[in-house]
Amino acid sequence: MIRIAIANQKGGVGKTTTAINVATALAATGWKTLLIDIDPQGNASTGIGVGASERGASSYDVLVDKVPVSQCVMPTRIPNLDLLPATVDLSGAEVELVSADDRAHRLQRTLTPDLGYDVCLIDCPPSLGLLTLNALNAADTLLVPLQCEFFALEGLSQLLQTVERVQQRFNPDLGIIGIALTMYDRRNRLTEQVSDDVRSVLGKLVFETVIPRNVRLSEAPSHGVPALIYDHACAGSRAYMALARELITRLPEKRKAA
Ligand SMILES: Nc1ncnc2c1ncn2[C@@H]1O[C@H](COP(=O)(O)OP(=O)(O)OP(=O)(O)O)[C@@H](O)[C@H]1O
Ligand SMILES: [Mg+2]
Repeated sequence: MIRIAIANQKGGVGKTTTAINVATALAATGWKTLLIDIDPQGNASTGIGVGASERGASSYDVLVDKVPVSQCVMPTRIPNLDLLPATVDLSGAEVELVSADDRAHRLQRTLTPDLGYDVCLIDCPPSLGLLTLNALNAADTLLVPLQCEFFALEGLSQLLQTVERVQQRFNPDLGIIGIALTMYDRRNRLTEQVSDDVRSVLGKLVFETVIPRNVRLSEAPSHGVPALIYDHACAGSRAYMALARELITRLPEKRKAA
């Protein structure tokens, strides 16, 4: 199982939209996929069609009460795609865990290969706190959605410093599979300028695929389905399918053959 954290401490940059649609694209290629929601907002859970009242056990139980992931996952309406949902309880988890020695490793401990998934995507909250730290410690690699706007690079350097600290202290093998430019608007000159800057600084780390600003992507969550299902032919869905393909080419050889 390859474990991919989707993180950026900046809010509203497209983490959840990326998690939902890449997870759906990977599931559609036949990969057994687990989407983990560790954001108390629970947007990934809602967006995949699991309303608050349908959520039983959740990532709170895994992180705070050490319930194994296998006992908390639930199927979604999408074949090959399971969900570990998040509930609002999770907003108290950072405080509840503050004196636990293993507080940064609760997710890592339970994300074992015997769960039977090919890939697991972890949708992180917009912070670099304990929840995101749990994801970075549990992950093999990180996917960073980056919105093409003025402060994007500043936030990114803070994130990359955190990744370095995690590599030094906890998870030396943590990689960065790529940075995905989101909400790309060709008509906006700033978008292109930021995109050029990001590519000149980070080179091949940036995925070639860019995710356009697309209204269908923002409409889909209110219908409780991924954009890929809501409108598979829209520009946003096509971009996410391309991103998933590019992601697969960047995975280790063994996984690609799955
Ligand atoms: N490419 C896009 N085009 C248009 N709207 C988008 C696009 N990507 C995301 N959105 C919308 O922008 C908002 C923020 O996106 P999303 O929830 O994916 O970001 P996030 O980084 O997960 O936010 P948070 O930090 O709050 O978790 C949502 O309303 C979403 O529907
Ligand atoms: Mg989100």
